[in-house]
Amino acid sequence: MNWNEQEWHWTNESRMVILTGAGVSAESGIATFRDSGGLWENHRVQDVATPEGFIQDPNLVIEFYNQRRAELAGVNPNPAHLSLAALQKKLGEERCFLITQNIDDLHQRAGSSQVLAMHGELKKIRCLNNKNHVIDFEGKQTRDTLCPECSSLMRPHIVWFGETPFEMDLIFERLRNCTHFIYIGTSSVVYPAAGFRDIARSSGAKILCINPDGSGVPSSDFLIVEKAGEALPALKLA
Ligand code: OAD
Repeated sequence: MNWNEQEWHWTNESRMVILTGAGVSAESGIATFRDSGGLWENHRVQDVATPEGFIQDPNLVIEFYNQRRAELAGVNPNPAHLSLAALQKKLGEERCFLITQNIDDLHQRAGSSQVLAMHGELKKIRCLNNKNHVIDFEGKQTRDTLCPECSSLMRPHIVWFGETPFEMDLIFERLRNCTHFIYIGTSSVVYPAAGFRDIARSSGAKILCINPDGSGVPSSDFLIVEKAGEALPALKLA
């Protein structure tokens, strides 16, 4: 069904979970993964986004994420990021929980105070010896970039295929307790994120999808076939 504010039925008791994907940053100029011209057209996932790829050629993997990190300097949050930050500010983090699959920092720069970056963050690297040694990082990582705490080798703080995304217990808890679930700019093919909609639905939540490619997304209660940066500023979600 198309957007209908009355059917959406937001009340003072409502709690929203929002999941974003690469489409939310597309209008900022960051390529998505699977659209035409996307990142996975020019790079083999197994080479640059798996633990095996890192073991085989760490320099290639480190350089791939160096490039992605460098791209962040030339992009800015777009109206989608800004609208979501404003919504969270209005409702508070308890009632507006933001999960992103994106590894850029555009939600944070737009002013979202709580962002669960389930696939990691480009602007962090972590120790290969102790996964709790995670540091903020700008610039170019090399094999000589050592852990400041224990001098071990470091890796990008990114969840690769075959690894478990961050904070899954917290995510499941929020999904089970939400009344409204919105997923924006994701092709919904990568699990576990692709399954969040169904978990929220089985908790009784209303489901809204925003994606300009309406054909490629699974069915939802509400579907807005528009770009996120155009749809979100015009919507009254709460
Ligand atoms: P995809 O590249 O798979 O999908 C991007 C989605 O964004 C598509 O459904 C597009 O139709 C949609 N889109 C494009 N432009 C848009 C716009 N302006 N507004 C709204 N939507 C738009 O990206 P993700 O679904 O985020 O994981 O990919 C999920 C995961 O796969 C990524 O986090 C990454 C990747 O492999 C890891 O690397 C672990």
